[in-house]
Amino acid sequence: MKKLPNIKILDESDKRLHQKSEPVIFPLDEETKQTIYDCLDYLEMSQDEEIAEKYDLRAGMGLSFCQIGIMKRIFVVSEDFGDGTFGRYIVINPKIISHSEELIYVGEGEGCLSVNRATEGIVPRYARMKIKAYDEFGEEFEIRVREDIAVAFQHEMDHLDGILFTDKIDNKNPYKDKNKMREI
Ligand code: NI
Repeated sequence: MKKLPNIKILDESDKRLHQKSEPVIFPLDEETKQTIYDCLDYLEMSQDEEIAEKYDLRAGMGLSFCQIGIMKRIFVVSEDFGDGTFGRYIVINPKIISHSEELIYVGEGEGCLSVNRATEGIVPRYARMKIKAYDEFGEEFEIRVREDIAVAFQHEMDHLDGILFTDKIDNKNPYKDKNKMREI
């Protein structure tokens, strides 16, 4: 079993989670690259039931650098393929190029490793989008994402602007516009 990376995730009470992160300037130093890989290892381990129990981890599929106190526009998403392997997304300085008209929402509600409480409500998200970003080597790429990965990307891109999913829920009407969107 891999060693659990030393990743300390900030709680929503920390002001850094409500601040905008700064654009990244390339090249990245080795320490930042290593932190990116550590975050992905952490997410993958958190999605393994046995490991999660051993280390008392909550399962997460995405993490932004502001959540570990580094105010840079970097996030990672780990997609569990269900066969013990994972897709890894490393996304730096992302910009949306285009998106669907169609909106979706996560029926059971979104979660966040920085929000350690029960929440109620849904968040409208684009069903599909195309983004432009850079990888850890400073190479520009475009990627199309859809469904749960599109939701994860939008959730993480919000983090880069200091926005939590809970900020997007209308507390007086937490299921607002539900019937105008598709549940996933
Ligand atoms: Ni989050």
